[in-house]
Amino acid sequence: MGLGIEHRARRLAPYWAEHLERTRAAQKRWTDKAHGEWLTVLGAGRLLDFNAAEILPRFKKLRLVDADPLCASYWKSLGIPVEAVCVDISGCLSEWLAGLKAARGDWAETLELIRGFGKPPKPAYEASGDAVLSLNILSQLQIVWQDGVEARLQRRFGRRFVEARESEWLEAVRPAGQMLVEQHLAAIELAGPKFALIISDVEYLEYEGRRFQVDRWAPAPVEWLEGGWRAEMGLKCEVSPALEGIELNEPTFERWLPSYRVAWQDCWLWHIVPLGTEKAEVGKVHRVVAVALERCVT
Ligand SMILES: C[S@@+](CC[C@H](N)C(=O)[O-])C[C@H]1O[C@@H](n2cnc3c(N)ncnc32)[C@H](O)[C@@H]1O
Repeated sequence: MGLGIEHRARRLAPYWAEHLERTRAAQKRWTDKAHGEWLTVLGAGRLLDFNAAEILPRFKKLRLVDADPLCASYWKSLGIPVEAVCVDISGCLSEWLAGLKAARGDWAETLELIRGFGKPPKPAYEASGDAVLSLNILSQLQIVWQDGVEARLQRRFGRRFVEARESEWLEAVRPAGQMLVEQHLAAIELAGPKFALIISDVEYLEYEGRRFQVDRWAPAPVEWLEGGWRAEMGLKCEVSPALEGIELNEPTFERWLPSYRVAWQDCWLWHIVPLGTEKAEVGKVHRVVAVALERCVT
């Protein structure tokens, strides 16, 4: 995943610039207040979207967390000692996918097995410290799950067979996908940092009807205005949720992060795959949200 992101970020730099700037700006705004001894960054990856200049002066110690072992060499580039943690923060994705690989049942039995992967065998990684930054990782948890399931189903039952039953297997992966999102929020509540900033995709839009070129930047063909999508005339669009139906809103925070209050929120679009710049048959735009949370229960 990390390598793919790095290559895309380089190739599509003009299209990604606004997303990366807004992500860094959210961290700058957060550090107006957020400070302390330890900061834990979940999904630090290759630090493409990490605002080192604003964050580093506000914390004495930095813990960088990612499942990808190749990240450690990028973290050295910060030039300060960091605690490098290479871990699957869900505590369950690798076990679930290994369990699925070993499964031998027919299609119906396999889907039943997938539906049952709701309870993690281990608790999620607990990000202790004064502050936690969840850096564009929340939506990735269920993507890794969904992609892993799809690959294993295709290997066992064949690509065509699986493609023809897409809604069936997608319905089966949903409960565990939701659990991964909820578990991430619950792990922040449990760890109890004073400050948390969650930056995540919350919605995906796919479009057809307008093409772009890598070397000729143009604005995205859609906007997010007054709480809704606006598209250019003639554009065919399909919108889907990024967090398996869980929204990053007050009811969700009241349920999973009851010790926190929302200090502020921001929202922007990320034209992640402009149609025509990759093999994909559709263009892709993500809606991204940044939510700053402050612990109000001591
Ligand atoms: C979209 S990237 C975030 C971008 C990243 N901040 C960067 O600048 O490269 C998601 C990151 O989450 C990591 N990741 C995905 N699932 C994970 C998991 N279950 N546990 C830990 N890290 C995970 C990936 O390895 C990747 O680096």
